Amino acid sequence: MDCKKFVEEQITDIKETVGDAKAINALSGGVDSALTTVLGHRALGDQLKTIFVDSALMREGEPQRVVNTFDSLGIPVELVDAQEDFLSALAGLTDPEEKRQAVTDTFYSKVFSQQVKQSDANFLLHGTILTDIEETVAGIKRQHNILAQLGIDPEEAYGYSVIEPLKTLRKDNVREVSKFLDLPAEISQRIPFPGPALATRIVGEVTRQRLDTVRKATAIVEEELGDSGAFQYMAVLLNDRATGIRDNKREFGQIIVVRCVESTDARTATATELGWKKLHRICDRIVSEIEDVNRCLYDLTPKPPATIEYI
Ligand code: XMP
Repeated sequence: MDCKKFVEEQITDIKETVGDAKAINALSGGVDSALTTVLGHRALGDQLKTIFVDSALMREGEPQRVVNTFDSLGIPVELVDAQEDFLSALAGLTDPEEKRQAVTDTFYSKVFSQQVKQSDANFLLHGTILTDIEETVAGIKRQHNILAQLGIDPEEAYGYSVIEPLKTLRKDNVREVSKFLDLPAEISQRIPFPGPALATRIVGEVTRQRLDTVRKATAIVEEELGDSGAFQYMAVLLNDRATGIRDNKREFGQIIVVRCVESTDARTATATELGWKKLHRICDRIVSEIEDVNRCLYDLTPKPPATIEYI
């Protein structure tokens, strides 16, 4: 594709649409919202406010890392601390769909909508890509009507508009344009990470303590498999316990599953054939570095019938 032409066209388009008004967008750290932020910032400068929501569900150091990365690109990102909102919405929930719904509702109806209403922005920039639209039409994905998700009726609240600069691109095009714009590899090459973040990797209730456990395991897995070339790799905390022995005492400890998969489009996947040495190393680190975890399992299940995430 002609990246130069695409970038120029989108910047002109955003500029013309917004004029002298203000716009806002939420950055997740993923490549779609990152590219949207960069295009929006080039078009609008400080007429665009970009926020990053700290949901308490992110990986170790992630909120600050995202803010710093954009800071080095000359793009200010406001960190919004919404940890308590998410944790209280998730408290007591164990059903996977209810957990997903709680994260979506908290993000859109509570945190982001408040930010939009507090700002005097009339335009929302959103990183919808072509695949999102196709999957919404096909009924695979939840409706991507961001205004409705924010509880804003576009007719009633006259003046709110959504701008979707990436809506003609697929993921590989998004990465191509990101590379063309020299975005750091940590953005353009980032492995997929789900919107509901670590909540998709905790079976059972999501609490601060359980998040800490899965966050530590995730950091180990990402460190050990960062050069594996696999499509995606993760740690999952099960909602079960197993007996173990530590310091000559029996304990009823927690169980971490390591998942690492090969895939091209995430619709199907197979487990990566990691070497035993690597698997032992990951297992040893997880059961020795994380308090209360005394078992580590490697998931061999393909998708289907399993999904990649556990929630
Ligand atoms: P599953 O678990 O359905 O995941 O096999 C397929 C791919 O999609 C990612 N995933 C998500 N991405 N929001 C996202 O942006 C979500 O709610 C979500 N759920 C799953 C998952 O990480 C995998 O790459």
